[in-house]
Amino acid sequence: MDVRTALKLGMAQLRAAHVSPPTLAAELLLLHATGRSRTSLYSHPEDQLSESEAQNYFSLIERRAAGVPTQHLTGKQEFWGLEFEVTPEVLIPRPETEHLIEVALDRLALRNLRAEKSQIMSGEGLLIADIGTGSGCIAIALAKELPAANIYAVDISPAALMVAQRNANRLGFANRITFLESNLFERLSLVGAEHAAPQLGNHRSSAAHESPLFDLIVSNPPYIGRREATTIAREVRDHEPAIALFGGEEGYEFYADLITQSASHLKPGGILVLELGHDSLPAVQPLFDSPVWTNVGVTNDLAAIPRVIAAERSEKS
Ligand SMILES: C[S@@+](CC[C@H](N)C(=O)[O-])C[C@H]1O[C@@H](n2cnc3c(N)ncnc32)[C@H](O)[C@@H]1O
Repeated sequence: MDVRTALKLGMAQLRAAHVSPPTLAAELLLLHATGRSRTSLYSHPEDQLSESEAQNYFSLIERRAAGVPTQHLTGKQEFWGLEFEVTPEVLIPRPETEHLIEVALDRLALRNLRAEKSQIMSGEGLLIADIGTGSGCIAIALAKELPAANIYAVDISPAALMVAQRNANRLGFANRITFLESNLFERLSLVGAEHAAPQLGNHRSSAAHESPLFDLIVSNPPYIGRREATTIAREVRDHEPAIALFGGEEGYEFYADLITQSASHLKPGGILVLELGHDSLPAVQPLFDSPVWTNVGVTNDLAAIPRVIAAERSEKS
């Protein structure tokens, strides 16, 4: 069978199973099954597949048609121009999460501007925390953009942390990201003592807890409501980890603890940037109505959904 016919048959099978978009999925699975490049698929559609390539490809098409996400079949997903390993233990990085990176970088640039510092940001002296790191995509994207920053990436799931650590190793950022198993900030409070990282000495809080204080805290928290579980796409509900998806019965419950704890782990003037679920804003925005927070801003995604909320920890309170 030639490449063109394989693609056509695969697309038809996926379309019949209501997989959307069928073309991209068939293409990615054919690339994965044959090890060919995208250019070669389209420049040599007459190339013959070997029997084992065809067998491998159509078995992937069958599993995709049965609801397995393409990324679990290929084992990868691109985010912020980098290729991430994904497994069923981590959330598949979503394109809308790139807005969170953009907002975080914009806020840091603004802070530099106000402090009349250079706009070329290396991240020198910055201490960053990524809460609920999953595949590590946010921490690693920030490490790429801020080559001198120190980053802590935590997750409650040890299985997710192993994937994140592998991604950091493979992409060459392992020396600047410390991965920690922690329920929110719990273990970060021990970081100073346990890791005795010399650079943390400059960031240690004078408060009762031992946690360093951060310049930037970012998180894409679990934000789907358990009561919505039956309405979300089957391939998400059945294949992605529940701990990464559900933020409580309503979905927004997780934000309250995250925001309260972030306030006590940020430096004065430090920045908090959170991803929002499609309907989280009305419940989350009021959590910032406190003298602790200032410069609260919301950014929409490309579908005009409020997707990111950012705020600064007030200098005074
Ligand atoms: C929505 S996923 C985000 C993953 C990744 N940051 C991304 O943007 O693709 C939420 C992550 O939070 C983690 N998580 C859930 N509850 C947590 C908690 N109490 N403390 C720390 N991490 C938690 C989950 O294991 C999951 O990896």
